[in-house]
Amino acid sequence: MRTLLGVKTGQLLGRVLRSAAAVRCGVRLSCSSSPSMLRHLTSKIKATGPLPVAEYMREVLTNPVTGYYVRNNMLGPDGDFITSPEISQIFGELIGVWVISEWMGAGGPKQLQLVELGPGKGSLASDVLRVFSQLRSVLGEVSVSVHLVEVSSALSQLQAQKLTESRNREADNKDDPVYRRGETAAGLPVSWYRRLEDVPAGFSIFLAHEFFDALPIHKFQRTKKGWREVMVDIDPEKMDQLRFVVVPSPTLASSTLIESDERRDHVEVCAEGGVIIQQLSRRISEDGGAALIADYGHDGTKTDTFRGFKGHRLHDVLASPGSADLTADVDFSYLRRMAGRGVACLGPITQRLFLRNMGIDTRMQVLLRNSSEPSARKQLISSYDMLTNPDKMGERFHFFSLLHHSRLAKPKKAEGLKLEKKSPAPLPVAGFTELSFS
Ligand SMILES: C[S@@+](CC[C@H](N)C(=O)[O-])C[C@H]1O[C@@H](n2cnc3c(N)ncnc32)[C@H](O)[C@@H]1O
Repeated sequence: MRTLLGVKTGQLLGRVLRSAAAVRCGVRLSCSSSPSMLRHLTSKIKATGPLPVAEYMREVLTNPVTGYYVRNNMLGPDGDFITSPEISQIFGELIGVWVISEWMGAGGPKQLQLVELGPGKGSLASDVLRVFSQLRSVLGEVSVSVHLVEVSSALSQLQAQKLTESRNREADNKDDPVYRRGETAAGLPVSWYRRLEDVPAGFSIFLAHEFFDALPIHKFQRTKKGWREVMVDIDPEKMDQLRFVVVPSPTLASSTLIESDERRDHVEVCAEGGVIIQQLSRRISEDGGAALIADYGHDGTKTDTFRGFKGHRLHDVLASPGSADLTADVDFSYLRRMAGRGVACLGPITQRLFLRNMGIDTRMQVLLRNSSEPSARKQLISSYDMLTNPDKMGERFHFFSLLHHSRLAKPKKAEGLKLEKKSPAPLPVAGFTELSFS
């Protein structure tokens, strides 16, 4: 394997491996029922008619006052679900190695923006930044800044606490696109935005873990008259309950969002996710960088995946809205289509394969060797199993990447030279290629 800045990607992991660390485990998100959300939705439906599922999902999850992600009491010891960065810090550390490896693959630009979409409790960003500190000598003089796109100011406070302790403050002006600013213990600036559009241009590595599945989806049903949109209406028999209806006439969404060769009878389209992918694609092709998207999903094959989670159990998506998480599988074939030709796409590949390619097995061996405490060893083994077991998260979650075209370009022969001198081959893309570790 070629090296850049004198370090192989596998060696990066080797350096992280040597720093012993305890495994964190946590659960998150508890939320009580929200009668005001149901009142809000029913009055909206009475005023304007049934709501597209996308609007229902957007209101329930991100309404600025009563949305699931926005409410203050949503995080707690009795969570609704658990995510990989919360299961083990190994996960975030391997992503940290991936970020540095992509920065190296781009030739080590002088500035690096780490941008995370939907950072939750801030655990992934915190684990990535710890790897940055451990590999400071590799990063050299690069100027690193951290940019978090988070719709929930309550969650932004938790993130700020984790990443900056008390070194952060809210913007004085409510219209400031940077609504919170802070600084990590190592002096890295951290900024919070509600929208990706507000993140400054520049070479960036974007991370999105369980973000796209939380974005609003439209649902469509094939009928004898063609595609029709599924909407949310008030149940006429129980006025305080909601039900799904298939609207009789086409809508703008049903006329524009379905591919002409679609073969399924029921389709979910996350148009908001498509717009975000287009933005990422444009930024990467213009400013350089890469995006790593990890989520559960499919390649344009599944139909009805819209579901709710509450207390680690499935929950009726229309019952007590605002009290449970809502989610839908990510359609990676749609994301790939939306990325267009401006970037190269890799994946989706399973989480199990990605983590194995990133060296999780080697990392585990080192941690187990350094840990004599039986309960800590048990914890390590069970979190490894949760992340990689095909029946758990190993094959349900997938990794997908957007890359600048130069990262996958074939070596070119130098023009006008008598001797055949090839341009150097790009470094392999970590995680998507099996690497050797030393
Ligand atoms: C399912 S949680 C995942 C959290 C974290 N990435 C993890 O894996 O633990 C979704 C995150 O995305 C944020 N979020 C949801 N919709 C958003 C939107 N439209 N814009 C910005 N953030 C959003 C939520 O507040 C939350 O932080």
